[in-house]
Amino acid sequence: MILVLLGPPGAGKGTQGEILADRLGIPKIATGDVLRSAVRDGTEQGRAAKVYMDRGDLVPDSVILGIMKEVLASPVASNGAILDGVVRTVPQADGLTLMLAELGRKIDKFLLFDVDDDELVKRLGGRTVCDTCQTPYRGLEPGSKCAKCGGTLVRRKDDEPESIRNRLAVYREQTEPVIEWVKEKRLGLEKIDAAGDPEVITQRAMKALEK
Ligand code: AP5
Repeated sequence: MILVLLGPPGAGKGTQGEILADRLGIPKIATGDVLRSAVRDGTEQGRAAKVYMDRGDLVPDSVILGIMKEVLASPVASNGAILDGVVRTVPQADGLTLMLAELGRKIDKFLLFDVDDDELVKRLGGRTVCDTCQTPYRGLEPGSKCAKCGGTLVRRKDDEPESIRNRLAVYREQTEPVIEWVKEKRLGLEKIDAAGDPEVITQRAMKALEK
């Protein structure tokens, strides 16, 4: 199964992606995580992407489609994948569906996580992430230890108030048109109420996948 998680920054795509990956037994692939690893490793791709990411802008479609080409060519996604953070523009949606069609594969379902803006800003302002495995946390201060791998929790540079505002605007302008694209093509979009207890949200998502 190939599942695409859609939704604004802070909607819980990373959190739910991890849980769903575990329940469904397929890997979660997050373009944000791939890019942050490249930034941390100081690769050419990472240095170029950092400028966009720190501002809260999208990195160019060509970079994202290059990452997805590598992912699809590797065995990691051969039994399916949960794609978190891709697709974010209509050209990415076109590019990814074409790549998959060439491999005789397709996106089985799009899950759209829906949360209001006030809650998103609150979540992102209070988030810390592991600097090693990138697991997101709430209510833990920077410097705390990751329960999963023992790494150190840090704040993401793009969780500063100005970047958050820009990321929300970029989402409305560039990513919301993807939702219309999916609807027009009747590709199977399920909207999930993503407010409330994370476990309840997982149950809503699992139910949506049964449809
Ligand atoms: P990316 O890493 O994908 O960031 P994002 O989409 O902005 O999403 P977030 O990671 O901020 O939020 P999330 O929805 O995963 O929420 P989370 O589970 O962490 O992308 C970062 C950047 O990389 C982009 O801005 C762009 O520059 C670049 N990029 C990546 N992909 C790209 C692409 N395809 N094209 C172009 N550029 C790309 O949860 C947030 C917080 O809320 C956490 O603290 C969590 O613990 C908490 N939380 C989760 N669920 C709940 C709940 N139910 N109740 C209360 N708190 C909750």
